[in-house]
Amino acid sequence: MTETTKTATLSFDGQSFELPMHSPTAGPDVIDIRKLYGQAGVFTYDPGYTSTASCDSTITFIDGDKGELLHRGYPIDQLAGKSHYLEVCYLLLYGNLPSAAELEDFEHRVTHHTMLHEQMQNFFRGFRRDAHPMAIMVGVVGAMSAFYPDSTDIHDPWAREVASIRLIAKMPTIAAWAYKYSIGQPFVYPRNDLDYASNFLRMCFAVPAEDYEVNPILSRAMDRIFTLHADHEQNASTSTVRLASSSGANPFACIAAGIACLWGPAHGGANQACLEMLEEIGTVDRIPEFIDRAKDKDDPFRLMGFGHRVYKNFDPRATVMKQSADEVLDLLGIDNNPKLQVAKVLEKQALEDPYFAEKKLFPNVDFYSGIILEAMGFPTSMFTPIFALSRTVGWISQWKEMIADPQNKIGRPRQLYLGDTARDYVDIENR
Ligand code: SDX
Repeated sequence: MTETTKTATLSFDGQSFELPMHSPTAGPDVIDIRKLYGQAGVFTYDPGYTSTASCDSTITFIDGDKGELLHRGYPIDQLAGKSHYLEVCYLLLYGNLPSAAELEDFEHRVTHHTMLHEQMQNFFRGFRRDAHPMAIMVGVVGAMSAFYPDSTDIHDPWAREVASIRLIAKMPTIAAWAYKYSIGQPFVYPRNDLDYASNFLRMCFAVPAEDYEVNPILSRAMDRIFTLHADHEQNASTSTVRLASSSGANPFACIAAGIACLWGPAHGGANQACLEMLEEIGTVDRIPEFIDRAKDKDDPFRLMGFGHRVYKNFDPRATVMKQSADEVLDLLGIDNNPKLQVAKVLEKQALEDPYFAEKKLFPNVDFYSGIILEAMGFPTSMFTPIFALSRTVGWISQWKEMIADPQNKIGRPRQLYLGDTARDYVDIENR
């Protein structure tokens, strides 16, 4: 952080405390409260961390008011338009865009780590066929520490690098095999002559009886989905990975924790929840009923795929994703898919509704990614695994940054205790 002489004064009960402030290269200043409890004997209180910076970072910056998302300073719309997922992975991991030689070497390393240890297939077969693919991903990724013990020593830079490459390379295979297992089809192995997105699509949709020709529009849309979900500051799952890593846990266990957190419908599970909502709405004529429910304070229903904790203007990823959605829907058509027809009308009506404009509720990245994945033929249960696959590079980049941070210490929040004060045990005969 950039040192400043600015301080904040905190006064209460006739006392005053000077707290140092730090200025970022972009975004709001922070008040450093690390010594507050020691000096003033009080905690700060911020459930959900709406006003709390948990770390400093140089990886991703979001300006929620401007709808700006930068990865190492590069705007997401430029990266989505001109770059591709593995190049963005390199940027997130190492801090700068690669030279042609650096990119070729990185892509070669990732390509040659896409296979899983053959015995790991047993993990998939231990699940019921109807297991949610996220349950399989949490289990298999956590188990990777048992199959790749040579890359679990977080203090060894070589081990950290190998674990990073293994996770980025193997997530598409794990996600694709979780899908194949759920539909009773044989696993399809990765191929080294295909790019990252095409390899994933082929592992999902090829069968031994018939190979799968990857349509370039679909592989481009898939690669764009990967890019747009790659990293996003200290969101819930990234914060989970950081907190798990702060105890010194191995990288595979920490990424498994991130996958588990992402599964929730308020976070990465929103794209699946969005399509399930579109299915519940069913037909275009029922949209007003659901929009009214979303506005009703007494109704817990929310429009899945709308709103965001940080973006209070628009989600720049959704803008780019909408372009891909239009391309894919043009290619594949929506005439025979009522969910996609409902999505197009819901988007229009919600964007024109003053309530949503006033509440700054707009379609977020999950609204459009769900539409694209539905059109591509993925079941909704595969939406969040694809988000997890994409976000692995963000989790890993933040994990590496945290381990290299000299300030790194175990995360241990305090609380506002509202429970019983000390009282003596009462024998059962006297209760
Ligand atoms: C992701 O953090 C990240 O960066 C996440 C993510 C990433 O890349 O990692 O961007 C990925 O998780 C995107 C968000 C996906 N989630 C959804 O689409 C689920 C639906 N969205 C909502 O659950 C909600 O918008 C959140 C959780 C995303 C944000 O919630 P906040 O910031 O805590 O907002 P809030 O709950 O305080 O809501 C503010 C107001 C409330 O009304 P009031 O109490 O002020 O009257 O807006 C309303 C809410 O009721 N509101 C909605 C709504 N979202 C918020 N009303 C209807 N439908 C919605 N979707």
